[in-house]
Amino acid sequence: MLRTHHCGELRLTNTGETVTLTGWVQRVRDKGSLIWIDLRDRYGITQLFLEEGKTSQEVIAAARSLGREFVIKAIGDVTERVSKNDKIPTGDIEVRVTQLEILNASRVPPFTIEDQTDGGDDLRMKYRYLDLRRNPVRQNLQLRHKMARETRNYLDGLNFIEVETPVLIKSTPEGARDFVVPSRMNPGEFYALPQSPQTFKQLLMVSGFDRYYQIVKCFRDEDLRADRQPEFTQIDCEMAFITQEDILTTFEGLVRHIFKTVKGIEIGSVPRMTYADAMKFYGSDKPDTRFDMKFTELNSTVQGKGFSVFDSAQLVVGINAKGCASYTRKQIDELTEFIKKPQIGGKGLVWIRYESDGSLKSSIDKFYNQEELKKISEQFSASPGDLMLIMAGEEEKTRKALGELRLLVGNMAGLRDKDTFAPLWVLDFPLLEWNEETGRYQAMHHPFTSPKPEDIPLLESNPGKVRANAYDMVLNGTEIGGGSIRIHDRPTQQLMFKMLGFTDEEAKKQFGFLMEAFEYGAPPHGGIAFGFDRLCSLFGGADSIRDFIAFPKNNAGRDTMIDSPSTIAEEQLKELHIKLRAQQG
Ligand code: AMO
Repeated sequence: MLRTHHCGELRLTNTGETVTLTGWVQRVRDKGSLIWIDLRDRYGITQLFLEEGKTSQEVIAAARSLGREFVIKAIGDVTERVSKNDKIPTGDIEVRVTQLEILNASRVPPFTIEDQTDGGDDLRMKYRYLDLRRNPVRQNLQLRHKMARETRNYLDGLNFIEVETPVLIKSTPEGARDFVVPSRMNPGEFYALPQSPQTFKQLLMVSGFDRYYQIVKCFRDEDLRADRQPEFTQIDCEMAFITQEDILTTFEGLVRHIFKTVKGIEIGSVPRMTYADAMKFYGSDKPDTRFDMKFTELNSTVQGKGFSVFDSAQLVVGINAKGCASYTRKQIDELTEFIKKPQIGGKGLVWIRYESDGSLKSSIDKFYNQEELKKISEQFSASPGDLMLIMAGEEEKTRKALGELRLLVGNMAGLRDKDTFAPLWVLDFPLLEWNEETGRYQAMHHPFTSPKPEDIPLLESNPGKVRANAYDMVLNGTEIGGGSIRIHDRPTQQLMFKMLGFTDEEAKKQFGFLMEAFEYGAPPHGGIAFGFDRLCSLFGGADSIRDFIAFPKNNAGRDTMIDSPSTIAEEQLKELHIKLRAQQG
């Protein structure tokens, strides 16, 4: 080792020892006859000290030639500091340098390597290896490491085996587009990168592995958002000979274990809600249950009073923003603007304010008298100081829009604290959802999910009503995991493909291997996959998963550091049997 200690290690008890430290120069303070150097490594910062007259001229000269981020090795004696720094663990001591060696010089970094840096996003992405020197970013990756370690500890303790599945595969339909890789040896043919190891983990169950997991990269060519990356990591799990209840218990246990060991937080048992209730009361299949503000349906109370917006609506529904009666007209206008955004799709917003004197003011005073407003408020269980916000329109759209409004109001009212954790199981998802574009049903989760046995008769008559043995785990309004009990027999799987519009030949071509495997003794099985990056970002209290990935892609799916994706040489294209249109033209 080039060093005897790291930069976060030395304490008063080391006083008098001769030590060797290595690291990066964070800062040099040259006060004429006295020089201080802050030396940094992954573990912390230690102050080096040099004094004209006591330190050799050669060492002083070397210290004066240092710049930010130079890599050095310093030998010296640990001494007690005169003025101590209680902000860092090594703040009681400093090292009086006797020898100094520059291991490597550094160009001036494009941004400061400090907790609060002056570097913008783009610059930090381009020089990600420098950004990773900063404490907050490094700490995120340390958190990620601990979470992966605890995941393995927990699952290993329950007899799960980690098995690697291939990365060059054939497309698995999980709803996103595949990234594809051309095959040099098979002209005109392509591998696909896995959107998840779904079919492989099911085959491992057929093989008798019984309890599988893998912390695994998955690839999806979809539009990016703060909680989406084209390549991301799953904690992917599968179990055989289990019921849905076993899965819920086992993986709620995993999340509880990670919370306890990594954050010291007891989350208790995870509440459960059906998909139908989540939509009815929160307008979302991933409700943020850190705060209540459930929906109140008002059709029977408000319709038939001559207010055409309400009268003509399929659904009139609202939330009670407790304690928000003080919102100004401007704030309410902002809420209205928000719900009218095309991506939210609301038409308008009605408000009723419960004043502190007990009177009710509203944007619908023309149509509803005090008595009627009182009745509405009672339905909301409102009290003085509350603000009721009501929307009306087509059922599904209105619920979704109100769900978004609920989150915004939750934010404004400070109800979405990053240090509060509200996990939730959402159960009984629909098996199928209608796709407007293709004009047919598609699997809501994926085609391998089993319908609830009692709903199978509905498959032919009312497919949209069939519920699946599928579940999501939601944390603070983010879907952190999803899974299902699988189909494990050929006839049901075949029926499922038929429902999804596959011809027998198409189904056989794409998934013949799986259906054949089901004919060789497939055990009942099911599983789940957690979005590991999302889980890390929630643990770390951040909105973006990017901060928890060592080398992430930007919003355009680019890695600006290595400049990828990029063009490839014509020779390479030729070998891969690819002709680009521009080149042809
Ligand atoms: P699903 O598609 O629900 O299920 O994915 C599981 C979890 O992965 C996370 N996730 C993502 N995280 C970051 N970036 C993305 N682009 C991204 N896409 C998904 C989410 C999600 O809950 N094979 C099934 C699992 C199973 O049935 O066992 C699957 O992949 O947190």
